[in-house]
Amino acid sequence: MTALPELVALDRRGRVAVLTVNNPPVNALSHGVRLGLHDGLRQAIADGEAQAIVIVCAGRTFIAGADITEFGKPPRDPSLHEVLDTIESSPKPVVAAVHGTALGGGLEVTLACHYRVGAAAARFGLPEVKLGLLPGAGGTQRLPRVVGVEQALRMIVSGDPIGAAEALEHGLIDRIVEGDLTAAGVAFAERVVSERRPLRKLSELTDKVAAARGKPEIFAEFRQSVARQTRGFRAPERCIQAVEAAVTLPFADGLRRERELFGELLSSPESRAQRYFFFAEREAAKIPDVPADTPVREIRKAAVIGAGTMGGGIAMNFANAGIPVTVAEVTREALDRGLGVVRRNYEATASKGRLTKDDVDKRMGLITPTTDLQAVADADLVIEAVFEEMPIKKEVFAKLDAICKPGAVLATNTSTLDVNEIAAVTRRPESVIGMHFFSPANVMRLLECVRGAKSSRTTIATAMAVGRRIGKVPVLVGVCYGFVGNRMLHQRGRESERLILEGALPQQVDRMLYDFGFPMGPFAMGDLAGLDVGWRIRKGRGDKALVADRLCELGRFGQKTGAGYYRYEGDRTPRPDPEVEKIIVGVSAELGITRRPISDEEILQRLLYPMVNEGAKILEEKLAIRPSDIDVIWVYGYGWPVYRGGPMFWADSIGLEAVRDGMLEFGRRAAGHFWRPAPLLERLAGEGRGFLTA
Ligand SMILES: NC(=O)c1ccc[n+]([C@@H]2O[C@H](COP(=O)([O-])OP(=O)(O)OC[C@H]3O[C@@H](n4cnc5c(N)ncnc54)[C@H](O)[C@@H]3O)[C@@H](O)[C@H]2O)c1
Repeated sequence: MTALPELVALDRRGRVAVLTVNNPPVNALSHGVRLGLHDGLRQAIADGEAQAIVIVCAGRTFIAGADITEFGKPPRDPSLHEVLDTIESSPKPVVAAVHGTALGGGLEVTLACHYRVGAAAARFGLPEVKLGLLPGAGGTQRLPRVVGVEQALRMIVSGDPIGAAEALEHGLIDRIVEGDLTAAGVAFAERVVSERRPLRKLSELTDKVAAARGKPEIFAEFRQSVARQTRGFRAPERCIQAVEAAVTLPFADGLRRERELFGELLSSPESRAQRYFFFAEREAAKIPDVPADTPVREIRKAAVIGAGTMGGGIAMNFANAGIPVTVAEVTREALDRGLGVVRRNYEATASKGRLTKDDVDKRMGLITPTTDLQAVADADLVIEAVFEEMPIKKEVFAKLDAICKPGAVLATNTSTLDVNEIAAVTRRPESVIGMHFFSPANVMRLLECVRGAKSSRTTIATAMAVGRRIGKVPVLVGVCYGFVGNRMLHQRGRESERLILEGALPQQVDRMLYDFGFPMGPFAMGDLAGLDVGWRIRKGRGDKALVADRLCELGRFGQKTGAGYYRYEGDRTPRPDPEVEKIIVGVSAELGITRRPISDEEILQRLLYPMVNEGAKILEEKLAIRPSDIDVIWVYGYGWPVYRGGPMFWADSIGLEAVRDGMLEFGRRAAGHFWRPAPLLERLAGEGRGFLTA
C-alpha cells in the first residue's frame, strides 16, 4: 500500500488500482480528500500494471458531500473541478463503487467516473438546494446527460436522494452489486477492461439533453409544478437555469454557467441563512449541562393521556416510529372518537399511495386504546394531553405518580400552564418535563421540551432523544407563559389586532407576512384554525378581542363556516370581504380611533420587531439556550421562511440598531410598555453587534 497524504489509500488488486477514501464520519470532500484523490489518481494512471481504477469508500458511506466547514474559506487546490477533470480524462476506466449515500460533491465524483456500481441500499442525491446552493462541480451538467432533463430537474430541485433501483432504472448507475463492495467494484472494472468497453464520459453524452432541445415547455411545466414549494427561495430557479444551460450550451460553456450561478448563490443572503440554519438545527441538540453521554431511559413503550386533537396526533408519532403506545381516555366515546380520527388520518395518507393498507393496520395495531389509567403502569414515557386546566392536569399527574413505574418520564403537553406546578403534585418532579407538540402533532416537526426547575438530566436527555426518534426537532426551553414560540407569537398577534384597528385591513397585514415568506398571515391562520376556539376561551376568562368577538357573534368562525376575517366560496381561498371592513371600521370608531393609511413597511416592522425584542428578553431570562434555538423554533413551528434564517438571524441581518430604533419610534407614537427595547437588544445595538455575534 502506498502512503498518500492521509485520507485516501491507494492499493492494487491484480490489474485494478483501488482508491479508498477514509475520512470519517461521512467521507466529506475536505481538502485532504481532494488532494489524496488527485495524487492517487495520478499515481494509478502512471502505474504500468494498473489498467483500471476503482474509487470506493471506507466506513459507513460513500462521499456524502462537500466539507461545508470549508465554505467561505479561501479555496485550496486542488479544487473539486480539478479532481473531476483528472478522473474523467483518465486514459484508464474509472469505476465508482457506492454504498451508503453518494451526495452532493460525492455524487459529482461518481458522475466524473466512467462507470458506477452501487450496493442495493445505496442512495444518490444532490442536496445542495437545501443549503440554498446548486451542485457546483458539474452536477447540473452531467446529471441531465445521464438521466435525462426531467429526472435531473426533479433530483436537483428537490434535493431528495433516490435509491439504487431507481438509479439503475434511470441509468445513473450501471449495476447493483452484492457482497464485498471493493471486490464487486474490482470485478466490474475487470469486465470493463476485458470487454474493452469505451471510456464513457458523461460530459460527452448528448442524446438525452438533445431530446429536450427546443422544448421550453419542459422547463415551464416544471417551474409551475414546484412554484408553491419553492416560493421565495433563490436556489431552485438557479438550479433550473443551470439545467437549461446543459440543454442549450456545449458542456464547457454549461460548466461556466453553472459556476456563475453557483457563485451568485454562494454569496446570496438566502444561502447564507440556509447554511446558518443547517448548523443551528444541529446545535439545538446540544445542552451545555446535559452532555451527550448523559444516560437516557430507553423508551420501549409510551402512553398518551387524552385522545383529543393533540393526543391522537402525538400517539401517531410513536406508532409511526414503531413504538407501542397506549392511549388513555375517560370515556369510551372520547376514545372511539379520537382513535377514529387517527384511523382516518392514516387512511387518507394510504389513499394518496403514501402508506400501504398493511402499514395502516400495523400502525393502528401499535396503538392500544384504554379507559383504564392503570394500563399505562408499564410505560417508559407518558405524555399528558388532557384539557388545558390546571386542576385536571394536577389530578392526572397525581394519579400517574401513583401508577407509573419508577424512572418513567412523565411529560405534559401543556401550552400555557406552569410545568413546575404540575411537577409539584408528584413525588418525582425530577421525572417531569414539558413536551410541547404543535398542531397537527403528527405533522409539525417542532417539539419544545420544557425543562422544569427539577427535571433531571436523564429526563431531559430522554425527552430530547425520543423526540428525535419520532422525527421531531426538539429544542430545550424553560418555563414561562407560552414558552418560547407562543410567547413571541403573542407579540405579533397583539400588533396585528392593533394594526387593523388603526387603519390596515386583514388582507394587507396577511399579505405582508405572506410576501415575507410565511405560509399565511395571522388572520388567514385564525380562519383556518377556527375563530370560535379563542372566543370561547375569552368568554370563559372575561377577555375581549373586539373584532374577532364581533365576527364570532355573527357566526363567522372561519373556513368551517365559510366566513371569518375573509369569505370562502367552497374552497380554502380567502377573499377580502367588505362586510368585515365595515365591522373593523365600526370598531375603530367606537374606540375613537381615527383610521389612517399604514405603510407596508410599518406593518412588517410592527409585526416582527416586538417578536425579536421578546426573543431578546427570553435570552436574558435564559429560557432559551442560544439565539439560534429561537430560530429553529420559528422555522419548524411557525413557518418562518428558512431562507431568512429565523427571527434572531433576520434581526442581525438588518442590524439591531434598526430594530431598537424602530421600537423606540413606535413607542413614541403610541404608548405601550411593550415598545421598550429589552436591555440585551439595547446593549448589543449600542455595541454595533448582533445576537449571533455577541
Ligand atoms: N390544540 C392545539 O393546537 C394545542 C397545541 C399544543 C398544545 N396543546 C395542549 O394539548 C393539550 C390538549 O389539547 P387538545 O387541543 O388536544 O384538547 P382536546 O380538548 O381536543 O382534547 C383533550 C382530551 O383530553 C381528554 N381528557 C380530559 N380529561 C382527561 C383525563 N382525566 N384522562 C384522560 N383523558 C382526559 C378529553 O376527553 C379530550 O378528548 C392541552 O394542554 C393544550 O393546551 C394544544
